Amino acid sequence: MSSRRDFMGMALGGFSALGGLAALYAMKRSWDPLPSVKAAGFTTVDLSGAQENVLNVEKWRGKPIFILKKSADMPADERDVLVGSDRFLIAIGLCTHLGCIPAYLPDQEIFHCACHGGQFDASGREIFGPPPSPLVIPPFKIDGTQLVLGEEGPEYIKMKEAGVIA
Ligand code: FES
Repeated sequence: MSSRRDFMGMALGGFSALGGLAALYAMKRSWDPLPSVKAAGFTTVDLSGAQENVLNVEKWRGKPIFILKKSADMPADERDVLVGSDRFLIAIGLCTHLGCIPAYLPDQEIFHCACHGGQFDASGREIFGPPPSPLVIPPFKIDGTQLVLGEEGPEYIKMKEAGVIA
């Protein structure tokens, strides 16, 4: 009898563990809307499904990475990453003041940092408050519609040489 109860307990425990996993998977999917692959310090993100003015947050080496497909009304900037005819902001999602994670406000097309009120425009440039510099651009490479984080591609090197990346 007791072994039957143990079995039932185990079966129920297993069932709720599965439910928990399913919930975690659902959460992960909503945080991670663009398909991505992580391997050996690199993260590859497929940008082909990105939508204009919708912020995607990827994770690379423990840091949040902001990926924003710019809409036509957003001014061109030398920090723009070109993928075909589309323009993207690719930046480490940590405020350059004291490292909080700013939120994106799509109706105003700005990033707002709740810690001390800092703001950045859609190109990641500081426009208000204490942040001393733009959001940092991580090493990246563009391969067709794939963004590879962690590798210094020609686009990144060009930005570095032009002094766009500090
Ligand atoms: S950490 Fe963002 S404004 Fe201070």
